[in-house]
Amino acid sequence: MEYEIRPATLADVPGIAEVARHTWNVTYAQSIAAHNREQFLERAYSHYALRQAIRRESRWFYVALQMETVVGFAHYLRRFDAEGELARIYVHPDHQRRGIGRALLAIGLGAMAADGVGRCYVSVAVDNAGARAFYEKFGFRLRRTYGRFLGDQLIHLAEYVIPVTDFPDTRQRPTTRARRG
Ligand SMILES: CC(C)(COP(=O)(O)OP(=O)(O)OC[C@H]1O[C@@H](n2cnc3c(N)ncnc32)[C@H](O)[C@@H]1OP(=O)(O)O)[C@@H](O)C(=O)NCCC(=O)NCCS
Repeated sequence: MEYEIRPATLADVPGIAEVARHTWNVTYAQSIAAHNREQFLERAYSHYALRQAIRRESRWFYVALQMETVVGFAHYLRRFDAEGELARIYVHPDHQRRGIGRALLAIGLGAMAADGVGRCYVSVAVDNAGARAFYEKFGFRLRRTYGRFLGDQLIHLAEYVIPVTDFPDTRQRPTTRARRG
């Protein structure tokens, strides 16, 4: 089954919220308390917040779809003139390890490179071994670790950085199709 990767539109908001809720609850079931997850999802993934994020300038928001259904998304922000941040990337657990994450990275880092962004940062929970392996596979380098509160819980985060042109696909045309799954 092929996946389509394209910029998000306002019509994608309910699908993004659904993927976020499910993927968050699976990924962080053991590491983030349910009430903190719920509070964060209500704030960061309300339809209102997502509409604002998609409309905002200096952002790149992409979705991955299978037969018109959102199965993943990635949201990049410009931090400073020449720096950007991968603010969130989530692929529904039923669709992971099929190249969607890689395709979402390729299109986002490619867009950043085309827009003059030199480096992209991402923060990931220290104990999120799968996501850390994913970033390290594509050349993100560990820069520091730090702590941040999520509700009433201190989360240990690892910050990674990559020069956007180090990502293999940004030197070519960004990939828009993930591989078959
Ligand atoms: C991390 C995530 C975005 C990766 O997306 P994906 O579509 O599953 O990743 P891809 O299929 O493109 O993986 C590419 C490569 O990254 C590495 N990788 C990806 N997930 C991995 C995992 N769980 N464990 C080890 N390596 C992994 C592998 O080398 C993989 O290649 P392979 O499948 O040929 O071995 C996705 O798994 C996800 O949404 N996870 C839960 C949410 C999350 O942690 N988001 C990041 C928060 S900062």
